[in-house]
Formats: sequence, C-alpha cells, structure tokens
Amino acid sequence: MGSGSSITAPVVPCAKMSLEEEISSVLPVYYVDEELTNDCMNDVRSSWSLVLTDTAPKYLEWESVESSRKSCAALFSDVFYRRLIEMFPSYENSFSNGLFQQGKSLVKMISLTISQLHHTNHFAVIMQKLAENHCKLGVKAYEFGVMGEILFHSLRRILGDDTFSKKMETSWVVLYSSMLKHIVPICVVHERSLRLCARDTQPSSEEERRNENVRDLIPDAICATANPVVLNRLHREGLSMKGNYNEGFKS
Ligand code: HEM
Repeated sequence: MGSGSSITAPVVPCAKMSLEEEISSVLPVYYVDEELTNDCMNDVRSSWSLVLTDTAPKYLEWESVESSRKSCAALFSDVFYRRLIEMFPSYENSFSNGLFQQGKSLVKMISLTISQLHHTNHFAVIMQKLAENHCKLGVKAYEFGVMGEILFHSLRRILGDDTFSKKMETSWVVLYSSMLKHIVPICVVHERSLRLCARDTQPSSEEERRNENVRDLIPDAICATANPVVLNRLHREGLSMKGNYNEGFKS
C-alpha cells in the first residue's frame, strides 16, 4: 500500500476455481474483513470533511502558494484521476463528461457512501448499483482493488502524513474493504458469466462438453448483471437462481 505501490497483476482464473476462491484471488493485499467501528467511521468522516470544507492541510499549503480558486475537492479529484490514468492509461478517454465532471461525481459518490455507513441496507444497495454500472462499462473486479490504492494515495497527498496517520489510513482501508466486500463478488459473477458466454460461442469438442461442469462456472448467487445468454442457458440446463449475492461473500 502507499504511494510507491504498483498495480496488482490480474489473476487468470482457472475454470475449476470456486466463486469464493476467485473472489479471494482478486481481493487486494490491503483487504481486511473487519467491521467498521464507530471510531473508524469518525476518522473517515472527519478527514473527508477536511476535503469538503477546503481545510485539508496540504491543500492549505498549496493554496497559499498558488492562490488558486480551485476547491480542495477539485484538487483531490485532480490527484486521483492523474493517478488513475497513470495506472490505467487505457481509461484516459473513457470519461465522457471530462475529468472535471467525473471528479465531481466521484466526490459525490464518496460523500454519499460515507453518509450511509450506519445504514447497512442503503450502503449495500449503493455498492450494488456502483458495481453493476461499472460492470457494464467493462471495469474489472481487480481494478476496484487498485482503485483503493489510488484513493489512499490521493488522501495522503491532500491530507498530509500527519493527518493521514497510520490509524487514519487503517480506518480508510476498513471502509474501502467493506465497499469491496459488496462490489467484488458482483464483478466476479459478472466476469464469470461473460466467460461462460464466450465458451458458449466457441466450438468445443464432445469431451470438453462432457467435462464441463456448469455448476462450477455458474454460482448459485448469479446476479442481475448476468448476460441473458447465460440466463437462457441456466434455464435450458434446468438450474435455478438461488441465493442473494447482496449478502456478500463469506470468507
Ligand atoms: C469504488 C470505486 C469507484 C467509485 C466510487 C467510482 C465512481 C464513479 C461514478 C460516481 C461514476 C459516474 C457514473 C455512475 O454513477 O456510475 C463513475 C463512472 C465511471 N467510472 Fe468509476 N468509480 C469507481 C471505480 C472505478 C474503476 C476501478 C474504474 C476503472 C479503472 C472506473 C472507471 C469509470 C468509468 C470509465 C466511468 C464512466 C464515465 C463516463 O461514462 O463518462 N471507476 N465512477
């Protein structure tokens, strides 16, 4: 973790990996499966409010030199998207409304997420929508893991080492991990459904067909983001949709 960290290599999933194994394989190294305590929530809220109220220490230093009218949230977004594009150059032209508007959406989304930390159900629905929207855009589960590193890096740059202390960083790691707990399973299920579709459209030998274990590839908790072709296939195979992927995965 931290500013010197490099991108996590995506794991090439093996056909026999269970859903849980595949989810674990894409979770980033900083991931922790911990409850968000009130103390964590207070840390996250108080530090984020420094960004929203233009009082983050590094912003104040920068502002006094540059005397720019840029808000702290805008500076945070600049740092964030510069880092995102460094790590994922292919996304450079993907933000249709420009990076300024995208930055505003990101700041709003972080604020919304933080405002819902006490409301577990709302929080889960927001994460589900975020994951589904990003799956449609082709964003991969492991990229969400890297996004966490980008977030911590940007917060450190704006808040400075004293405010973004080890304890503060841990609180953000716990927060972002609880976001990943919802997002990653949805993305992984979506990616598996796409792989299954790709297999369906490729000719395979009789033996491969026989060895194919549909139940290995389609988790019980198949989600709404699944491709209709997969759902048709499920129907043909007589498999039903069970479970609720909103529960997140059990580690
Ligand atoms: C928890 C992490 C993330 C947050 C909070 C977030 C936030 C957002 C928001 C608020 C939007 C606007 C549309 C919407 O509401 O869905 C958006 C769109 C987008 N995001 Fe993310 N995002 C995250 C992760 C990622 C990742 C990992 C990538 C790729 C590496 C990514 C790439 C994009 C792209 C390409 C768009 C579409 C922009 C457009 O159509 O103009 N996002 N994101």
